[in-house]
Amino acid sequence: MPRHRSFLPHAVVAIAALLALHPLATEAQKPAPTPLFFGTSWYPEQWPASRWDTDLQLMQDAHMNVIRVGEFAWSTMEPAEGRFDFTWLDRAIALAAKHHIAVVLGTPTAAPPAWLTSKYPDTLRVDEDGRYAEHGNRQHFSFASPRYRIFAHRIALRMAQHYGHNPNVIGWQIDNELAAPSFDASAKQQFHAWLHHKYGTIAELNRRWATAYWSQTYDTFAEIPVHAKGENPALLLDWKRFVTDTWVSYLQNQIDAIRPNAAAHQFITTNSMHWFNGYDHYIVHKNLDIAAWDDYVPDGHLDPDLNAAQHDLVRGYKQKNFWLMETQPGFVNWGPINATLPPGVTREMAWQAIAHGADAVLYWQWRSSLNGQEQYHGSILGADGTPLPIYAEIQQIGADFERTAAALAGTTIKAPVAILQSYDSHWAIDFQKHSQKFDYVASILDLYRALHPIAQSIDILSPDAPLDPYKVVFAPALNVLPRPTADHLLDYVRNGGNLVLGPRSGMKDADNALQPNRQPGPLASALGGYVEQFYALDKPVPLTGNWGTGTAALWAEQLAATSPQTKVLMTYGKSNGWIDNQPAAITHAYGKGSITYIGATLDPKLMQSMAASLLAEHGIAPAIPGLPEGVEASTRASAETHRAVVILLNHTASSQHIELPRSFENILATHILSASTIDLPPHGVAVLMEPHAQ
Ligand code: GLA
Ligand code: GLA
Repeated sequence: MPRHRSFLPHAVVAIAALLALHPLATEAQKPAPTPLFFGTSWYPEQWPASRWDTDLQLMQDAHMNVIRVGEFAWSTMEPAEGRFDFTWLDRAIALAAKHHIAVVLGTPTAAPPAWLTSKYPDTLRVDEDGRYAEHGNRQHFSFASPRYRIFAHRIALRMAQHYGHNPNVIGWQIDNELAAPSFDASAKQQFHAWLHHKYGTIAELNRRWATAYWSQTYDTFAEIPVHAKGENPALLLDWKRFVTDTWVSYLQNQIDAIRPNAAAHQFITTNSMHWFNGYDHYIVHKNLDIAAWDDYVPDGHLDPDLNAAQHDLVRGYKQKNFWLMETQPGFVNWGPINATLPPGVTREMAWQAIAHGADAVLYWQWRSSLNGQEQYHGSILGADGTPLPIYAEIQQIGADFERTAAALAGTTIKAPVAILQSYDSHWAIDFQKHSQKFDYVASILDLYRALHPIAQSIDILSPDAPLDPYKVVFAPALNVLPRPTADHLLDYVRNGGNLVLGPRSGMKDADNALQPNRQPGPLASALGGYVEQFYALDKPVPLTGNWGTGTAALWAEQLAATSPQTKVLMTYGKSNGWIDNQPAAITHAYGKGSITYIGATLDPKLMQSMAASLLAEHGIAPAIPGLPEGVEASTRASAETHRAVVILLNHTASSQHIELPRSFENILATHILSASTIDLPPHGVAVLMEPHAQ
């Protein structure tokens, strides 16, 4: 591929279109093929400027076309209060441009400088037990501190005024892995104000929180304790929502600094952490242009379904393609045993990201810092500045991406099924697990593992997302079910959708209070049935019915039918006495669709036959059938051109022979041949297109 063709103007136009930041774009401005972005985090502030050109040349040699810089460089950008120095960054960005490497700028607010936190200790984060964070680590700021917001706004503003129209800056990452809330005095006061605003009167809060329980009745909002555990479930849920809203305003403070000063083609994102549930990612992503996340496999053993689900989760934050902002070159430094990914798996993971809708893959990090807390982390160059063994594999990925970028431009995932993921439900179950073994994320993953080989593409979405495109929607453990969400689900079913609820669904209302009617609460009448009683299990109980015979290990709900049209799909065998021979899964037609309730945690085999049966019933079949176990297929298609690209991933350590349903060309291969069989080497990848589609 010609390396020295200037891709940047194309990149700029294409990414703007990709992000829909140009709603008025005319036909003439239609995007040129979008490149796949490929690159690394880079910390020029840690190295002499005389070294930078060598770094950038080595990146260019690895076919990299993007770097992320700046996200921890506050003390270099503003070495003393109000004294800004961007000269070094100007040089680094200009030099990157010479190497055809675009830049994502990180605002440095995850690491405030020592002058700031020393002079203004009220900007420091306070943990739940009242301890102040100290300098010397990162994330030591309070997300709620009004004074911190002023400094954060100012550094973001100065950066945006300086780089908002730099043609080589294509986007912004605000902060870095938003995580820990603060329990400082200001945060507590803001929580009280937030509650006041939400409930209006303390009497209304007392009513909805049922505070007569244990004499919790409050006379003023200021009396309300501020805790993230051990409190009234209503308080705990509201604390999470307050934390979410505080992160929203924390981000908005910087968006307000950047957006008015930034060219339309510059996107704004932040890098998040898959299942991390410190806040509601659907809400936090509303005002961001794209989602981005950091994908790490600390033990070095890729779990392909888990990783696939994580990509789908992040794609669901904004229901569009995303960036993989960080991933490991080989290994990390923060797990119990930081084993490395085997050869080929770094590439397999890069391609799995693309297969699930990533438009960029960036490594963390380029070169080991000489000092600092992460000396042992995997990197692409060693501390000596020369390529480590992983460099060649990374170079190959860069070449792969160059070869396939045009074909993948403008493509995304279209899934036939969705799994609903609710932060409210995740939190509510974590507050009161009832069985320590019950894990909300596992309830999603167990289902995902069964659905994935059949559906091949799955969307993971907020329960409030539009659901019409999906023939079947699964809602495992949708514990908190506010009335508006229930109405939204009923509309979906009435219009022909098929909703499958899992155990623990529909138990709580929006205040985390028990619903006034039995589970699934507002869906019970449409279901033609309800949950008679729930049971945490300490040993597996037998199950039998339409999906075969197996067990439930963690949770069993005794179901009851209220309509003669309700069909019993599964029944418990002899178990704890209460549920012997009682219904475990029921289904009922409603409107043009159906509601199914599964009250038991199905074992993997039963889960598979449930998935096979329900997906077949609704006409969902694999796009690429008959794949050997451990081989994943994912289709990215363009709604406009109908071009479809199939990505095949061999997640096993042995070669796999694949019979394709028709003839394809592997556009990743150097010699492109059309064939209907393909042999994938261990951890191998193929990128397939129909011959006429090119
Ligand atoms: C104790 C308390 C009760 C109740 C029960 C629950 O006995 O006195 O108020 O909390 O535990 O098991
Ligand atoms: C996170 C951070 C990075 C780095 C990596 C190491 O993702 O965002 O700064 O610390 O972890 O794995």
